[in-house]
Amino acid sequence: MKFFVDSCDIESIKYWFNIGVGEGITTNPLIIKKQGISDVDSHLIKMVAAANGAPVSIQVSGKDRESILKQAKKFASLGENIVIKVPVVDADGKSLLPIIKELSDEGYAINATACMMAPQAIMAAKAGARYVSLFFGRISDQGADPVEQIASVRNWIDEVGSDTEIIVGSIRTVFAITSAAIGRPHICTVTPAILQKCTVHEMSKHTAAEFDNAATKINV
Ligand code: E4P
Repeated sequence: MKFFVDSCDIESIKYWFNIGVGEGITTNPLIIKKQGISDVDSHLIKMVAAANGAPVSIQVSGKDRESILKQAKKFASLGENIVIKVPVVDADGKSLLPIIKELSDEGYAINATACMMAPQAIMAAKAGARYVSLFFGRISDQGADPVEQIASVRNWIDEVGSDTEIIVGSIRTVFAITSAAIGRPHICTVTPAILQKCTVHEMSKHTAAEFDNAATKINV
């Protein structure tokens, strides 16, 4: 399972890429707003540079087919390996699968995002999406089992030999990563704060202190 960095903070992205953990970047309008970025295009160019050839997902937010296509094509022109994130439905609940299909057919790499159940993700993959994003935390919020949804999509991918990769997002705890991995997604996208939490454990710290203490009493 690969880790992507779910962030648009350049310093954090560089940190996780430099230590070999980060292998891609995902963002969404909430993340960009929280970071206080106003010029998205120029920030995207910086993210692409920090990613050093790895995929960078940027989300479209247009209201109709024309504006979504225009925005997607503009984003894609801003650098290499830009992946266009298209929600599987719009805010009115209208399916965006036709747009996912159209852009995929034209050769754009699409990350079909905001998938809450396996059939949505499988259909997006059939429409040509390069990635399908299942939202672990938001699926759990609805009382469903995200691991079951992830595993179901993975079974289908393996069965038909699809090239589509599953990204699990909406990771809010370290434990969610452990759980998500049971469903065998290809990628887990995680915020820098949760990635950081994965590196430390009180018992690891306690154990290191025990080792240090013992080391002061022996000749090493
Ligand atoms: C990543 O691709 C998703 O956009 C992100 O992880 C969603 O996280 P949230 O459910 O915490 O908003």
